[in-house]
Amino acid sequence: MTHRKLQPGKLVIASHNAGKVREIRALLAPFGIEPISAGELGLPEPEETGTSFAENALLKAHASAQGSGLPALADDSGLCVAALGGAPGVYTADWAETQQFEGGPGRDWYMAMGKVEGKLAELGTDADRSAYFVCILAIAWPDGHTEIFEGRVQGSLTWPPRGLLGFGYDPVFVPEGRSETFAELDPAEKHAMSHRADAFRQLVATVFS
Ligand code: IMP
Repeated sequence: MTHRKLQPGKLVIASHNAGKVREIRALLAPFGIEPISAGELGLPEPEETGTSFAENALLKAHASAQGSGLPALADDSGLCVAALGGAPGVYTADWAETQQFEGGPGRDWYMAMGKVEGKLAELGTDADRSAYFVCILAIAWPDGHTEIFEGRVQGSLTWPPRGLLGFGYDPVFVPEGRSETFAELDPAEKHAMSHRADAFRQLVATVFS
């Protein structure tokens, strides 16, 4: 299969998640790419109707590429907990949805982390707490061509949450080989070992080399 290179210039980040956009901007910084977020372009957020990370990433990348006429990079990611059969998985963001977040509908990550912890607690004190984050990065071009990459980071879940950095489930995730959670690590350290960085290394080797 012939891979397509990404030329210097504009690239849409097909995400409305500020944490992801910030991390992807940092990862793209060395490559002569001008990132613009889907939010800045006023592109609508497509519904994530896929049943896999890859399907959702492709859906978001295609929607932004079609809507902007530019290549677009989408990230679909989530937390998979071994003892919960891989849940929350593709529903990682959905577990945070609430009607009562700061006065209206929104995503409450502390509630979501509590839900995961509650389900682990139901399994007893010796439940397997291992988990991994997975990240699919998909690039779509306006002519329909796509490139797709998968990254993972293994770790375990801790309770209570610790740390104020990062986003999402970072305060309960301790990557393998460390004692700090992702939310306690300097962002540069997280970027060096995260699922997003793993997928990004593969993307760089394929589309930038
Ligand atoms: P989606 O890909 O927009 O469906 O959302 C995936 C969700 O997984 C995010 O909203 C986060 O809550 C969670 N997630 C993905 N990557 C990370 C990460 O690096 N740290 C913490 N949570 C993450």
